[in-house]
Amino acid sequence: EVSITKFPADERKIIAKAHDKYKKARAGIINTRHGQIHTPAFMPVGTKGTVKAMLPESVQTTGADIILGNTYHLMLQPGAKRVFKLGGLHKFMNWSKPLLTDSGGFQVMSLSKLRKITEEGVIFNSHIDGSKFMLSPESSTEIQYLLGSTITMAFDECTPYPSTYEQAKSSMELTSRWAKRSRKAFYSRDGYGQFGIIQGSIYNDLRLKSALDLIELDFEGYAIGGLAVGEGQELMFKVLDYAPDLLPINKPRYLMGVGKPADIIGAVQRGIDMFDCVIPTRSGRNGQAFTKYGVVNIRNSKYKEDNTPLEEDCLCPACKNYTKAYLHYLVKVKEILGAMLMTWHNLMYFQKLMLRIREYIAQGKDFDFIS
Ligand code: GUN
Ligand code: ZN
Repeated sequence: EVSITKFPADERKIIAKAHDKYKKARAGIINTRHGQIHTPAFMPVGTKGTVKAMLPESVQTTGADIILGNTYHLMLQPGAKRVFKLGGLHKFMNWSKPLLTDSGGFQVMSLSKLRKITEEGVIFNSHIDGSKFMLSPESSTEIQYLLGSTITMAFDECTPYPSTYEQAKSSMELTSRWAKRSRKAFYSRDGYGQFGIIQGSIYNDLRLKSALDLIELDFEGYAIGGLAVGEGQELMFKVLDYAPDLLPINKPRYLMGVGKPADIIGAVQRGIDMFDCVIPTRSGRNGQAFTKYGVVNIRNSKYKEDNTPLEEDCLCPACKNYTKAYLHYLVKVKEILGAMLMTWHNLMYFQKLMLRIREYIAQGKDFDFIS
């Protein structure tokens, strides 16, 4: 069963006494069929069954307990039935630790140009060859089963920002009806779980109704969706000041699509346990490195002859064996090794951040180190 086993109520009280401001931060362990997830956790994004520019075994050495895959991409290519036939996504991509799959609705809306939402689901044209597909709560859940996902996400509609109250309300209500159908379609078994996704945009009472609807379905965990969609950190934190408190204390809470280190820290302080974001991988490929000195844009000409590593004490191969001058050169000439080394460093940076957050929570200490 997917459950947070390590920390709940008692330990929280102790932390609350020491540091009231951080009383909502939690450190825990989610036990799954594919091993433990230490929370707060950051999930590297492996949309198409690969974390871009990384070997899965290298992703593991950065400290990641879990990675994310996408229903939308994998159903188009190579197809969920084929992955199932080949032994599941874990075997297919050589990743034996936990896998979470997003349900597809969010990606359909951002990637497919032609799509139509009905009560039944979403009809859309593939962004690859234009061919026609359908995603519904039932088919999304079935696809995630065929992939062998450790954590299945309910099929939702990510409410765009900005949305009027009326738009956000009907989107949230559709998400609740879809959540009920997703839950019914889920093949419940030991060590696997399904998370519901709450919507409601920036509207307090809609978030509450969404949470109440989903809690009734008794998911193994809950995600907060419809954030990090252009509203900015201040508004996002405003929602996170109350939304996590609407969710069960003993179950994982996942903030979808977040974020920068400062977003992650602020969200953990407000009671979030899990994150996923393309930032470390995508920005790494684009030449941005996260370091303790701040973001380094390695393409900057000031690094042309810089014979020092990104970080002296980082144990990643980019820092142990190469200089900023070499990384600058590789990224400038678009060599594959540049993307590999930059991604490796960034994933390590994010995992070290999460490790430090977990340690600080366990010790009852503040963690305002980046913000
Ligand atoms: N990724 C980022 N935000 C969302 C969301 O609201 N729903 C889903 N399914 N995925 C997301
Ligand atoms: Zn490094």
